[in-house]
Amino acid sequence: MMLLSLLKKSALVAVALLGLVAQADARTIDEIKKDGKIIIATEGQFAPFNYFQGARLTGFEVEVAEAVAAKMALKVEWKALSFDALLTGLRQDRWDMVIASHGITEERAKAVTFTDPHYCSGGVIIARDGAIKTAADLAGKVVSVQTGTTYLENVRKVSAVKEVKNFPQDTDARAALVSGRVDAWVTDRFVALNSLVANPGAGMKMGDFLFVERIASAVAKGNAGLAAEVNKALAAILADGSYAAISKKWFNEDIRCK
Ligand code: ARG
Repeated sequence: MMLLSLLKKSALVAVALLGLVAQADARTIDEIKKDGKIIIATEGQFAPFNYFQGARLTGFEVEVAEAVAAKMALKVEWKALSFDALLTGLRQDRWDMVIASHGITEERAKAVTFTDPHYCSGGVIIARDGAIKTAADLAGKVVSVQTGTTYLENVRKVSAVKEVKNFPQDTDARAALVSGRVDAWVTDRFVALNSLVANPGAGMKMGDFLFVERIASAVAKGNAGLAAEVNKALAAILADGSYAAISKKWFNEDIRCK
């Protein structure tokens, strides 16, 4: 008994220490400034927000992050990883920031610190059958979504859905719709618009919003100094016209949260 409780206690101490060490490792804004570059992770498979044009990482969020970093007088070192690795790696202090269209949710906010949002959007329903447009139309249907996203979470709330099929990449969730393996796909409204234009022969039609969300970057939980500087830089590009120009270039409209 004694030995067991001693073991339990030392295990608790070890876990607490690990927690401290993990927190202490996130680079502070001063350390990042001294280094001259910020390490930002994204996915690179979510056009037009973050994606590859050949070998070059590009997209609206890539340009917004570059502009934010430039305001902070920092260069960016980009990392591209699978979506599910992004927030996990942030918690392990493998990069300073993540920008990959994450919706601000309570659940995620327990694990990371969100900055101010850089755009507002939401999940829409896309189908080839024009009769599938609303949440009610998803009754008895098979729906595809990307794993670990707010799309998955929100489709699950539609209790009448027959089955939710998860894919590690959103592009595979789309492919499942195009090849007729699912009845509907739920993704970001701007991703959907982009896909409809890029695949005119696929017969995809965009229905209603299933939910709306505010999209933000994330830094390590409690890295308030970095979050404050990012927010200041974001406010500056929102005010000086550079955000508006980037948004106009990618969407022909300003997609900031209003
Ligand atoms: N907005 C959704 C979410 O918060 C999807 C984000 C997907 N991002 C990506 N890079 N694939 O979960």
